[in-house]
Amino acid sequence: LTAYDNSFASLLDTAGVDMIMVGDSLGMVMQGHDSTLPVSVAEMVYHCRCVARGVQRALIVVDMPFMSYQQSPAHALASAGRLMQKGSAQVVKLEGGEPMAETVRFLVERGIPVCAHLGLTPQSVHQLGGYRVQGREAATAERIRHDAKVLQQAGASLLVLEAVPSALAKVVTSDLEIPTIGIGAGKDCDGQVLVLQDMLGIYPRPSPKFSRNFMENAASVDTAVRAYVAAVKSGEFPGPEHSFQPA
Ligand code: KIV
Repeated sequence: LTAYDNSFASLLDTAGVDMIMVGDSLGMVMQGHDSTLPVSVAEMVYHCRCVARGVQRALIVVDMPFMSYQQSPAHALASAGRLMQKGSAQVVKLEGGEPMAETVRFLVERGIPVCAHLGLTPQSVHQLGGYRVQGREAATAERIRHDAKVLQQAGASLLVLEAVPSALAKVVTSDLEIPTIGIGAGKDCDGQVLVLQDMLGIYPRPSPKFSRNFMENAASVDTAVRAYVAAVKSGEFPGPEHSFQPA
């Protein structure tokens, strides 16, 4: 799950969430922006540090925000260094396919674990024409499959697949040795992630189809998070109603 502050991070860690993503989705759910684009490295550092103080066990993955890594590998290294040194992140996540492979390799060769992110990459929302499912057509599916292999080859330790058809996520997962983490990518990824505010049903705008409100039958946030962990581990979530099909 994602978390952006100390109290929730501590609760998730205690409830058995294996990985906490300090996502740049905080630009939307914490700051009220329409996209993740306005988020800065300083803001990510601040939120990551708050999260890290609450976590004993879970892996902490932090997003590299828009324009903190696209300029050059050296610029990415400086940003990733800040996120790890000042934010206490353990893994940095960046969006993009083959064009980012050189940057992934540059970071990994310098001791920085990288999580890649393909499919719906929210920092490219304007290029994608909105928050749309990706990889529905054969050509775009093939591109995602290719990019995933290239990013693994470049040294990525993990791959987030967002809003892609389940069948494509299944193939990508079997192509790779590194774990895939799905969000709107069906049940066959190695792990799952959701934005905390979506799965608690507290984001004031409509939640994506791939999310479920775990507070609906829960007496407390702790119960809802434990139900999410159990549903993911048993394979009960995500179901077909949270998944996408090819065109
Ligand atoms: O920004 C974010 O929260 C994310 C994850 C949900 C994958 O990128």
